[in-house]
Amino acid sequence: MEADLVTVLRCPVCGDALALTDRTANCPRNHAYDLAKQGYLNLLPSASNGIDGDSAAMVGARTVFLGGGHYAPIRDALILQAASLQADDLVVEVGAGTGYYLAGVLGTAAGRRGIALDVSRYAARRAAKVDPRIGSVVCDAWRELPLLDDSAQLMLNVFAPRNATEMARVLAPDGALLVVTPNQQHLAELVGVLGLVTVDEEKERRLQESFAGVFVRTGSEVIEDAMRLDRSAVEQLVLMTPSARHLNYRELLGKIAVLPEPALVTLSVTLSTWRPVG
Ligand SMILES: C[S@@+](CC[C@H](N)C(=O)[O-])C[C@H]1O[C@@H](n2cnc3c(N)ncnc32)[C@H](O)[C@@H]1O
Ligand SMILES: [Zn+2]
Repeated sequence: MEADLVTVLRCPVCGDALALTDRTANCPRNHAYDLAKQGYLNLLPSASNGIDGDSAAMVGARTVFLGGGHYAPIRDALILQAASLQADDLVVEVGAGTGYYLAGVLGTAAGRRGIALDVSRYAARRAAKVDPRIGSVVCDAWRELPLLDDSAQLMLNVFAPRNATEMARVLAPDGALLVVTPNQQHLAELVGVLGLVTVDEEKERRLQESFAGVFVRTGSEVIEDAMRLDRSAVEQLVLMTPSARHLNYRELLGKIAVLPEPALVTLSVTLSTWRPVG
């Protein structure tokens, strides 16, 4: 991780700014965090060990599936929304996974920087490799985020946990938050047949409630596409979701084997834009 990326981070113990010396991030009170050899920084308090982020297998499946370009319409929509970013702005993705969307939003501007936050070490390893302008940090998004106040110009949250108060603290007053949530029709052709976890019908209401008084919605668009997925892509898609934890792998392969190839599968998500209140 580049030293200038560490300057936007704060110590999870005392909240003071961190600075990188050799391969260790230190705060002025000498709390110290070593960079992992895979390039990410673990800022998870030790008491939080054991929180379930995505497993190595899930992250591997996500890397392959996203590499197939099936979710490119989501990434393209985020890139459009980020068009007004200045050259040296900081973009933070909460629950960044492999860093696919963050890397897209950073685009080609050399000075732009990104921080990928995820509780999964496997995800953090991937995100650390995806682009040298991205600093990859392990933390729990439900707790205080290890970032300085007002440090980010843009935040991304794609199918990931949302801690509204913390995201608002980290976002600059004139910054924006982009949230992607699945719609009821998302992956509808696979949900019943393969026994996937369904989209919570109350999701939209819960999103509004959790942001009330903290963020104001400034826009919303539905992104839809008909994905043509071969069986291997369907398998990766299932294995990268929480459904992977509940399914029997052999049964899953049996069910996938009877799907048409390619299978036409609906991508349907909402991209909403938010600005912090006051
Ligand atoms: C469905 S994945 C989405 C990843 C990425 N945004 C994408 O769309 O490719 C959810 C991500 O949130 C992470 N996650 C789950 N709980 C978390 C938490 N408490 N704090 C930070 N990240 C968390 C998981 O490890 C996983 O990488
Ligand atoms: Zn400290």
